[in-house]
Amino acid sequence: MEPTTPAEPVADAAIRIDSHLGADERTLAEDVLDGLTRPFKELPPKHFYDSRGAQLFDRICELPEYYPTRAERTILTDSAEELSRLTNAAELVELGSGTASKTRVLLDALSAAGTLERYIPVDVTESVVRECAAELTGEYPGLRVHGVIGDLERHLDRVPPAEGSRVVAFLGGTIGNFPPGSRRRVLRKIASLLGPDDHLLLGTDLVKDPEILEAAYDDAQGVTAEFNRNLLQVLNRELGADFDPDDFDHVALFDAEHEWIEMRLRARREHTTIVRDLDLPVHFDAGEEMRTEISAKFTAERLQSDLSAAELELVHWLTDPEELFALTLSRPAGALAEPGAQRVD
Ligand code: SAH
Ligand code: AVI
Repeated sequence: MEPTTPAEPVADAAIRIDSHLGADERTLAEDVLDGLTRPFKELPPKHFYDSRGAQLFDRICELPEYYPTRAERTILTDSAEELSRLTNAAELVELGSGTASKTRVLLDALSAAGTLERYIPVDVTESVVRECAAELTGEYPGLRVHGVIGDLERHLDRVPPAEGSRVVAFLGGTIGNFPPGSRRRVLRKIASLLGPDDHLLLGTDLVKDPEILEAAYDDAQGVTAEFNRNLLQVLNRELGADFDPDDFDHVALFDAEHEWIEMRLRARREHTTIVRDLDLPVHFDAGEEMRTEISAKFTAERLQSDLSAAELELVHWLTDPEELFALTLSRPAGALAEPGAQRVD
């Protein structure tokens, strides 16, 4: 049984936080044992987001080269009212919610429509869930917040049952950070959180000129490089590793075959790092690269096929004027055939 802290006592009755990441959480250790002993070293990107990583990500969102946040915000601003009308949502579940900065646009529209009752942020970073819950209950009087601290690959079944019509929002293009098999598994799990009248609002970055893509992941100020190298600090702190972040260069390249950006850390010199808590020596050749993130870029066709594999049906495709980013509204396939259901295009 995984550790769970249900209904932690909090002063504010409008807030409930459940944490599914206990003190004996082993996934970082397991991911290091698995990922750093392979011929091509790799770590999953969810470990970027300690509180410094979350702050660096927020700085990335402000960078001139990093267009996804601005493009998605434009779409949300232009369409929030329509989305609110189409979904009539009483509750918004947000996956990988972070600081929920763009979410306010949706919350504004749903609360103006008078339907909004509950917000359920789900994120692996405890501090952001707690801070966001406190801020949002202040900003939206009457709103209940039920935060879920957990891993989208393991804890989606801990999302509380729906209490009214529900929208699950998965913004920012974070779905693209999961490798294809895992992406489809996560989408299927998300589909299981939806009743026939519920919706998924999914943000996906679109395939485009590789120069634009690579600049977005290798900005001139070096903030993304700092975000990438912060992973090494997480390993030093959490597992007693002795990485020197200055021993690694940040690499971002577009893989045209897979249509994804890869971020890597490239060793500047041959060296061996010790991960003390695991008693694990990790050798790097000079120039050796470790993959730290993929960020898949989508075409409409690929997105459709991922959605259908999860038995979700696309009902609305929204994009920004430059067609950089897509926000799609889907619902469980078959729901449209039910009496009273209407197609919206
Ligand atoms: N939705 C926000 C934040 C995106 S950053 C936006 O669009 O700007 C990605 C967020 O997803 C981070 O807050 C990170 O902590 C969270 N995240 C990444 N992988 C995760 C996982 N496997 N499980 C839960 N949360 C995850
Ligand atoms: C959170 N996620 C969608 C970001 C992305 O674009 O893949 C993470 C990121 N990595 C580097 N810059 C931003």
